[in-house]
Amino acid sequence: MNREYDMQPAKPQFPKFLFCVSVFFTVCGLVLTFIWPILLRYILQSKLVLTPNSETHDPWKKTPFSVPLDFYLFNWTNPEDIYNKNVKPKFQQVGPYRYWEVYEKSNVTWNNNGTVTFRHRKFWHFNYTEPNGDLQARINTINPVILSAAHTVRSWNYWVRKGFSVTLSGIASGINITQTIDEMLFKGFSDPLLDMTSSIPFLAGRLPPYDKFGFFYKRNGSVNNDGVFNMGTGINSTFGKLYNWNYWAQTPYYEGKCGKIHGSAGDFFPRSPDNSVISLFLPSLCRSVTLKLVGQGEVENITGYTYALEARTLDNGTIYPENKCYCNGECLPSGVLNISSCSYDAPFFISLPHFHNADPYYTSLVDGLKPENEKHDFYITLEPNTNIVLEADAKLQINMLLQPIPGISIFEKVPKAFFPLMWSQQHVKIPASDASKLKWLLIMPVILSST
Ligand SMILES: *[C@@H]1O[C@H](CO)[C@@H](O)[C@H](O)[C@H]1NC(C)=O
Ligand SMILES: *[C@@H]1O[C@H](CO)[C@@H](O)[C@H](O)[C@H]1NC(C)=O
Ligand SMILES: *[C@@H]1O[C@H](CO)[C@@H](O)[C@H](O)[C@H]1NC(C)=O
Ligand SMILES: *[C@@H]1O[C@H](CO)[C@@H](O)[C@H](O)[C@H]1NC(C)=O
Ligand SMILES: *[C@@H]1O[C@H](CO)[C@@H](O)[C@H](O)[C@H]1NC(C)=O
Ligand SMILES: *[C@@H]1O[C@H](CO)[C@@H](O)[C@H](O)[C@H]1NC(C)=O
Ligand SMILES: *[C@@H]1O[C@H](CO)[C@@H](O)[C@H](O)[C@H]1NC(C)=O
Ligand SMILES: *[C@@H]1O[C@H](CO)[C@@H](O)[C@H](O)[C@H]1NC(C)=O
Ligand SMILES: *[C@@H]1O[C@H](CO)[C@@H](O)[C@H](O)[C@H]1NC(C)=O
Ligand SMILES: *[C@@H]1O[C@H](CO)[C@@H](O)[C@H](O)[C@H]1NC(C)=O
Repeated sequence: MNREYDMQPAKPQFPKFLFCVSVFFTVCGLVLTFIWPILLRYILQSKLVLTPNSETHDPWKKTPFSVPLDFYLFNWTNPEDIYNKNVKPKFQQVGPYRYWEVYEKSNVTWNNNGTVTFRHRKFWHFNYTEPNGDLQARINTINPVILSAAHTVRSWNYWVRKGFSVTLSGIASGINITQTIDEMLFKGFSDPLLDMTSSIPFLAGRLPPYDKFGFFYKRNGSVNNDGVFNMGTGINSTFGKLYNWNYWAQTPYYEGKCGKIHGSAGDFFPRSPDNSVISLFLPSLCRSVTLKLVGQGEVENITGYTYALEARTLDNGTIYPENKCYCNGECLPSGVLNISSCSYDAPFFISLPHFHNADPYYTSLVDGLKPENEKHDFYITLEPNTNIVLEADAKLQINMLLQPIPGISIFEKVPKAFFPLMWSQQHVKIPASDASKLKWLLIMPVILSST
C-alpha cells in the first residue's frame, strides 16, 4: 500500500515493517477514462488505438474533468470497553467527505513493442463552498502505527516483545487515537512511535523515512502512489490490456497464478469473446480482480451489462479453487482480502463497505455495521457492443486486524476483530449528451458489424 515506486525494475527494497504511512487507498485502478465522445468517433472508424498523435491521447493523458471521490470514516465510539470481553467494538459511520480528483498520466514512454509505460498522478481538491463534511471534526479510531508495529513484533523473541511492550506503555496511553478527518486523510499526524523508532535499537533503520501517518499523506500530486504501468496501445498489442506493473508480469505479493497480472489497466476495457467476466488491475491491492456479469441495466436508456465485484473475487477458494493462492497461507472466511504482503506486512484487509457480500463472521465481531446492496456494492456497467463504460460505482473498505498479542501488554487482552477504518466511493456515469450519441451509433448495425 505505501509502496513508493521510485526504484526501477527490482522489488522495492523497503524493510518489511510497519509501514503503512501513506497507506494508499483510493479505488485507484478504477480510473476509467471518461472520453466518451472521442471513443464514439473512434468506434465509427473502427480502430481504437492510443498513440501520441491519436485523438484518444490528450484526454487519456489528462482526464478533462474531475470526478468526485467520497470518503466515509468509522468513528469508534467505545474505546473504553476494549478490554471488556462482553462488549464488542462499536462504530458509527461519518461522512461523506467529498474530494474532487484530477487524474493524469506522467512519465509516459512509448515503447517499440507497441506498449506504453506510464505512472499515475492525481490531485485531490476539497471544495469548501459546497455542502460537505467538516474536516476538522474529530474521530476515535485504532492507532494504525502502534497496531502495525505490534503486529510485526508479535513473532519476535519474547524479550524483544517485552522491551517493545515497555516502550509502548511509556509512549501510548492506549491503542486508540483521536484525530481530525483531515489528519486521517491528507494532513497526516505524528505519533511518538514514529519519532522514536530511530532510537529503538531493533527498529532503527527498518523504517521508511516518513514522519507522519495519514491514508493520503504525501500522495497529493505524487507520481509514486500507484506504480509503473505497461499497457497495450492497440498496435501490436491489445488495447487497454495491462502487460506489466512495476516491470513485473508476475508480482511477488501472491503465489503462483494469483500473482499474475491480467485484465484492464483501468483506462479501457478490451473487447473479448467471453463477456461473462471482466478483469482489472487495482494497484492498491497489488492484484487484478475479476468482476462477474450479474445482469443487465439501463443507463440513460442504453442497455448495458453490469459486472459486480462479488464471490468471483471475494471467495476464499471454497467456490472458486483458483482463489486459494490469494490466501497467502491462511485462508479467512470469504469476503475479506488479505493485502498484508502489499502493505509492508502491516495487517491491512480490504472488503466491500460494511463487509457487504462477506461471511457474517465479520459483522458479528463488531457493532454498528450494516451491509446493504444498493449502498455498498461495487459494479461497472459496460455497453456490450463497444465495451464503453456507461456507469461505474467503485467502493472499497480498509480494515485492520486486531488480535491478542502475547507479551505486548496493551494488546494482550484485546478481542479479535477486523477493525473497519474507512471506505471510499467513486461513482461516475456517462453524461446524457454522450449517451444519446451512443444510442444513435447502436442503431446503425452496418457500422457496428464492420468493427
Ligand atoms: C465520534 O464520537 C465521539 C464520541 O464517541 C464524538 O464526540 C465525536 O463528535 C464523533 N465524531 C464525529 C465526526 O461525529
Ligand atoms: C482512548 O480511550 C480512552 C477511553 O475512552 C480515553 O480515556 C482516552 O482519552 C483515549 N485516548 C485517545 C488518545 O484518544
Ligand atoms: C517522473 O516525471 C516527473 C516530472 O514529470 C519527474 O520529476 C520524475 O523524476 C519522473 N520520475 C521518474 C521515476 O522517472
Ligand atoms: C515493452 O517494452 C518495454 C520497454 O522495453 C518493457 O518495459 C515492457 O515490459 C515490454 N512489454 C511487453 C509486453 O513486452
Ligand atoms: C508492429 O510490428 C511491426 C512488425 O513486427 C513493426 O514493423 C512495427 O514497427 C510495429 N509497430 C509498433 C508501433 O511497434
Ligand atoms: C493537492 O494539491 C493541489 C495543488 O498543489 C492543491 O490545490 C490541493 O488543495 C491539494 N489538496 C489537498 C487535499 O491538500
Ligand atoms: C464548489 O462548489 C460550489 C457549489 O456547489 C460550486 O459553485 C463551485 O463551482 C465549486 N468550486 C470548484 C472549484 O469546483
Ligand atoms: C428514457 O425513455 C423513457 C421512455 O421511453 C423516456 O420517458 C425518458 O425521457 C428517456 N430518458 C432519457 C434520459 O432519454
Ligand atoms: C472459507 O469461506 C467460507 C465461507 O465464508 C467459510 O465457511 C470457510 O470456513 C472458509 N474457509 C476457511 C479455511 O477459512
Ligand atoms: C495475511 O497474509 C500474510 C502474508 O502476506 C500472512 O503472513 C498472514 O498470516 C495472513 N493473515 C491472515 C489473517 O490470513
